[in-house]
Amino acid sequence: MAALTLDELIAEGVQGKHVLVRSDLNVPLDGSGASKQVTDDGRIRASLPVLQKLCDAGARVIVMAHLGRPKGEPDPQYSLKPAADRLAELASFKVELAADTVGESARAKAAELSEGNVLVLENVRFDARETSKDDAERGAMADELAALTTQDGASGAYVDDAFGAVHRKHASVFDIAKRLPAYQGDLVRTELDVLDKLTKDPDRPYVVVLGGSKVSDKLAVIDNMMAQADYLLIGGGMVFTFLAAQGHNVGSSLLEEDQLDTVKGYLDAAAGSNCEFVLPTDIEVASGFAADAEHATVAAESIEQSDFGSSGIGLDIGPASAEAFAGYIKSARTVFWNGPMGVFEFDAFAGGTKTVAQALTETQGFTVVGGGDSAAAVRSLGFEDSQFGHISTGGGASLEYLEGKELPGLTALES
Ligand code: 3PG
Repeated sequence: MAALTLDELIAEGVQGKHVLVRSDLNVPLDGSGASKQVTDDGRIRASLPVLQKLCDAGARVIVMAHLGRPKGEPDPQYSLKPAADRLAELASFKVELAADTVGESARAKAAELSEGNVLVLENVRFDARETSKDDAERGAMADELAALTTQDGASGAYVDDAFGAVHRKHASVFDIAKRLPAYQGDLVRTELDVLDKLTKDPDRPYVVVLGGSKVSDKLAVIDNMMAQADYLLIGGGMVFTFLAAQGHNVGSSLLEEDQLDTVKGYLDAAAGSNCEFVLPTDIEVASGFAADAEHATVAAESIEQSDFGSSGIGLDIGPASAEAFAGYIKSARTVFWNGPMGVFEFDAFAGGTKTVAQALTETQGFTVVGGGDSAAAVRSLGFEDSQFGHISTGGGASLEYLEGKELPGLTALES
């Protein structure tokens, strides 16, 4: 059965009702202690419309969210305070943060919450039961979350708007949906509509650009994309496992030796398929992993021939490769991009990521930037969201959806 929508919930009437919303407020932060600042508020902005809609309809909105990966107990460096503060700055409704997730503070503030305002619970991952593998443990936490919505014996509703977390079988994503009438948020709907365009008959040529450090994180998506994409452009740290699989020395660059056979298998399989792997022909090689490291552009098959010898470390695709990638992207009708091409946080090694991002803004094709990190990368390089067809808030979630996996947060809404 298809998921019920937020509009259906609003049509049923939410005035005065407590509505628990799972949002993805997992944003990058900078600074320390009380001066911590959100460096990319894309996910907060993306979460705002659903909260606004519910507040406008008179709901008492309780937001559940995680930040980072704390170890199942309160840890101030992972507090949601900076995210809640940023939400308060952007919103026209009042935002309060509870001091705990399902404890005394959360219960008291939920009971006092007035119509049209928002209470953000402290990081759900401060409670070890959130991510537990044990159904009963997660269930017990979900019971406590659901109880926050109960007023005079009547319970509220649950809205899942955290697209970035739908691949997690967690208490605030999966188990809660079994305990309250559950609805799909508009952000989840929009993300699924876009990703469906990619999986169901995309306009061709369909170019997929994959970067990021680890090939092991991307194996399933590479496997799956070989059957769908016309061109698979590979950059980022994972490129060195591909180059090594082709028999080249990669110096001190990132190499996942245990993935060499799998990657060789992909290259062999691609040779007889309709999907072409495009690897960089030149690499920006550095004397070490540092923003101010000496560096030089060398041919991809001669990484150890630079002045740095076998201690040279590849930190970006080279300019010729970046231009070649841009050419594929500009003549594509559909582009999906996940993962930076190099260490874009260091100016000297941001060139590949910038050129690829620029090409996405110039193509006539439909473009999707997938992943919290990739989205943060393009914004930090000075691009605007509006320059891309769609910037997904989901990293792992969008990859797992494209892999065709069943996502617990989505199935929970359907049953
Ligand atoms: C993300 O950053 O992709 C989502 O917020 C999920 O975070 P997680 O990978 O820590 O579950």
